[in-house]
Amino acid sequence: MNVKADTRNYSDIDCDALVIGVFEGERPEKGAETGILSDIDSRLGGVLSSLFETGEFNGKPGESAYVHHAGNLKAKRVLFAGLGKQADFNIDGLRRMAGSATRLLRGKKVRRFAIVRRSQLPLPEAAQAVVEAALLSLFDADKYYTSDKTESRLEEMILAARDTESGDQGAQAELNKAIERGRIVAEATNFARDIINEPSNLMTPTDLARIAAEGARSFGLGIDVLDADKMKELGMGALLGVAQGSEEPPKLIVLTYNPSTASDETVAIVGKGITFDTGGISIKPSEGMEKMKYDMAGGATVIAAMRAIAQLRPAVKVIGVVPATENMPGGGAQRPGDVVTSMAGKTIEVINTDAEGRLVLADALTYAKKLGATRIVDLATLTGAVSVALGDIYVAIMGNDQPWIDDVITAGKAAGEKIWQLPLDREYREQIKSEIADIQNIGGRKAGTITAAYFLREFVDETPWAHLDIAGTAWNESAKPYLAVGPTGVCVRTLVNLVDSVAGKSLK
Ligand code: BES
Ligand code: ZN
Ligand code: ZN
Repeated sequence: MNVKADTRNYSDIDCDALVIGVFEGERPEKGAETGILSDIDSRLGGVLSSLFETGEFNGKPGESAYVHHAGNLKAKRVLFAGLGKQADFNIDGLRRMAGSATRLLRGKKVRRFAIVRRSQLPLPEAAQAVVEAALLSLFDADKYYTSDKTESRLEEMILAARDTESGDQGAQAELNKAIERGRIVAEATNFARDIINEPSNLMTPTDLARIAAEGARSFGLGIDVLDADKMKELGMGALLGVAQGSEEPPKLIVLTYNPSTASDETVAIVGKGITFDTGGISIKPSEGMEKMKYDMAGGATVIAAMRAIAQLRPAVKVIGVVPATENMPGGGAQRPGDVVTSMAGKTIEVINTDAEGRLVLADALTYAKKLGATRIVDLATLTGAVSVALGDIYVAIMGNDQPWIDDVITAGKAAGEKIWQLPLDREYREQIKSEIADIQNIGGRKAGTITAAYFLREFVDETPWAHLDIAGTAWNESAKPYLAVGPTGVCVRTLVNLVDSVAGKSLK
C-alpha cells in the first residue's frame, strides 16, 4: 500500500473512504461555521447527528460507523472512528484507531482511503505512527492458505493533513520524511513477522543465514556467516553444545552497518536464533511445542532492524549478531550434566538442555565484544517465566548500566513498545553457582527471567549491556488493534529508535 500526504481540504480528496476520528462526547455544534464535525454533518445531511441521537455511535475507542452517502464530498464513503476521551488521547490511541480503521476498510474492499487529521499531536510523530499502525495492521499469517486468503485491494492511504500549511516547504518535507520512516520500520517489522511465522522445516539456520545475506545484498550491509568449523576454531563450545543434537548445521550470522560518518560507538544488537526448540534431552511437553518455531524471534528482529537501519542511515556503526541453531534431542545431543567451555573461557555445567538460549547467546555476546562492540543490547525469547511476570504486555529489560537501560526504555516508549525493568542484583548470582564448573545454566524455580539474564551478564563484563526478554510479547495469542494473532515483530522499532538515539539524533 502506497502512502502520501495531501494538504487539500478533506472534502476535496477524491477516494473510496474518508476516515474521520471522533472524540467521545464530541458533537457537531449546531450552527457553527467552522469545525469539521459540523461541516461534515451538514455535508452528509445530518447523518452524524442522527448517529449520536440513536446512540449508534458515541466516539468510544474501537467504535465505528461506516456511512454510504450521496452528500457533497469527493469521497464515496465516510468511516467515523471512535478516539475515546480527548483528555486521554495520545499517540498510542492514534495507532489503535489507524490500525483498526485500515483493517476494517480492507474488509470493505476499499482501494484508496484518507485519514483526516483530528488531534493536536505533533505532526511528524503522528504521521509516522499512523503509517506504522496502518501497515502493521495489514499483516496476516495466512501465507500457507491455498484458498480463503485475506484479500486486500488497498492501494493507497492518504494523510489528509491540512494544517501543514501547504506553503511551508520545511513542514512538508518533514511530513514526507516521517511517512517514509514509518513505512521503512513497518515494512521491516512485517518482514520480521514473516520469517518468525515460517515453520521450522522451512526456516532452518541455513535458511535464516540465506535470508540475512539476501537482505545484506539488497540494502548494502556487510555479512559474514560463521559455520561450525569456524565456531570450533573460535572455541564456541556453548553454541556448539546446543547445535550438536541437530542434523541442521548451525550458523552464526553477522551483519554490519558501517556508515562513512559515525560516532566512536559500535552498537551490537544480538538476537537468539533458535529455529526450533524441542528442549533437547530435557525435552518439552508436546502440547504447544509447535510454538517453538518462534524461538528465533530475537534473531529475526535483529535481521529486520538491520535492514531498516541500512535504509535510514544513522551516523553510528551497528553490528547485528544472530547465533542460529536448532535445539534437538538427536543421538549426538548434549546431556544434562555435560560441561562445555565457552568462547570466553568460562566453563558451564548444562543442567537443563532446554535453557539453550543463554548458551548460544553467551558465545554470541563474546563474539560481539571481539568485533568491537562498545554497547550491547540482546533480544531473546529466553524464559517462559517472563510471561508469568509481565504477561504479553511488557517486554522485560535487565542490564548492567542504568543509563543504557533507560535509553532502551525511552526508545521503546517512542515506538509504542512497553518495556519494564526487572532487578539484576549480585545476590541472584548465587542461584547459578555450579559445583563443578564456573557457572550452571539454570537457577532453579525462583526468578527465572532474572537468573537467565544474570547468566548472560557473566559474558559481557563491563561493556554497557541490556537484555530484552521477549518470550511473552513476540507472539500474540489474541488479536490487538493493530497486531493480528501470531508474530508481533516486537522491538524492531525500539532497536531502530535506540540506534538513532546513539547516533545523536533526536528520537522521532
Ligand atoms: N524458548 C524457551 C522459552 C520460551 C518459553 C519462549 C515459552 C517462548 C515461550 C527457552 O529456551 C526455555 O525453554 N526456557 C526454559 C528455561 C528453564 C529450563 C530454566 C523455560 O522458560 O522454561
Ligand atoms: Zn529451551
Ligand atoms: Zn528456547
